[in-house]
Amino acid sequence: EKGGYDHFMIKEIFEQPRSIGDSMRGRLRADDVHLQLGGLSNYMDKLAEAERIVIVACGTSWHAGLVAEYLFEELARINVEVEYASEFRYRNPVIKENDIVIAISQSGETADTLAAIELAKSKGATIFGVCNVVGSSIARATHAGAYTHAGPEIGVASTKAFTAQVTVLTLIAIATAKRKGTISEETYRQLLIELENIPAKVEKMFENADKIKEIAFIFTYARNFIYLGRGLNFPVALEGALKLKEISYIHAEGYPAAEMKHGPIALIDEDMPVVFLATRDSSYEKIVSNIQEVKARKGRVIAIVTEGDTLIPGMVDFVIEVPNTHEILTPLVSVIPLQLLSYYIAVMRGRNVDQPRNLAKSVTVE
Ligand code: F6R
Repeated sequence: EKGGYDHFMIKEIFEQPRSIGDSMRGRLRADDVHLQLGGLSNYMDKLAEAERIVIVACGTSWHAGLVAEYLFEELARINVEVEYASEFRYRNPVIKENDIVIAISQSGETADTLAAIELAKSKGATIFGVCNVVGSSIARATHAGAYTHAGPEIGVASTKAFTAQVTVLTLIAIATAKRKGTISEETYRQLLIELENIPAKVEKMFENADKIKEIAFIFTYARNFIYLGRGLNFPVALEGALKLKEISYIHAEGYPAAEMKHGPIALIDEDMPVVFLATRDSSYEKIVSNIQEVKARKGRVIAIVTEGDTLIPGMVDFVIEVPNTHEILTPLVSVIPLQLLSYYIAVMRGRNVDQPRNLAKSVTVE
């Protein structure tokens, strides 16, 4: 049941400290520098030797795949391609026997993702699953995998399943990097410690909920929204836009911030809300100049910033702070305010947030 909340979606958003923690439990112990994924332990050498990883997924799970692309490249120096399952399955994709395919799916029943797995399997690839539903069709079709332990997700808009997917994919990327020797012992230890701190940091962010509600109130009747981010925050921008459009029916687009100049900047005027993912990371200076470009055209900017940022609050209309963490783990904190923003806007518009029109929780037809 909803446990006192108005909707499953908000219950599930608030469950994330637990669901992220559960997705690490038994796998990660920072105290004794331990990280092991039981379901993949026989495949760790294969992963470490992989020349290429192909990720197949749809929707929010595809966004988790884009996060994983950065992680595997950055930490394990493996070339990664992220494919929409529906496109992959109808092309004639080049798949080799030493390729690893990772299928990401909350429900484990998405028809296009399942078909993509079957195609890759027929070409001899090794398939891993990152699924939430135990014993689901996709979990059964894969050679090995690691479950997300998000618990049942009832709200049609995926929230806690996304952060659980990102958590598990982060664990896999770190374990692979350790096996390959592409990260230092020190970075490895730090990442494990920081991962263990994430649930408490997410919990702390809920203190901002009222502020996010006020911002939501101001933008309830916006007709469009743009979300911009760079690096690991680019997939978060896409996810923020998807959350908003699916439950509030407001048109929203996510872009890599630097792409704005190549077209979308024409949309900016005093009526256009622009959400910037502007946490303190290696893209910070670049994002600051992207914010200036939008402000110069009178866009209304909501910036997601790292706690204690003193520069951006003076430049924008609204700021929402998120806790500082290791750059690699940024999506796990920066997506949370975007989930809340879309939830509150949708509620204020009187939408059926748990069951948006035209959508189903699992898409078992292509
Ligand atoms: C968005 C959403 C969908 C799903 C997509 C894939 O909030 O829920 O975009 O992410 O239909 O579903 P799974 O992960 O079950 O394969």
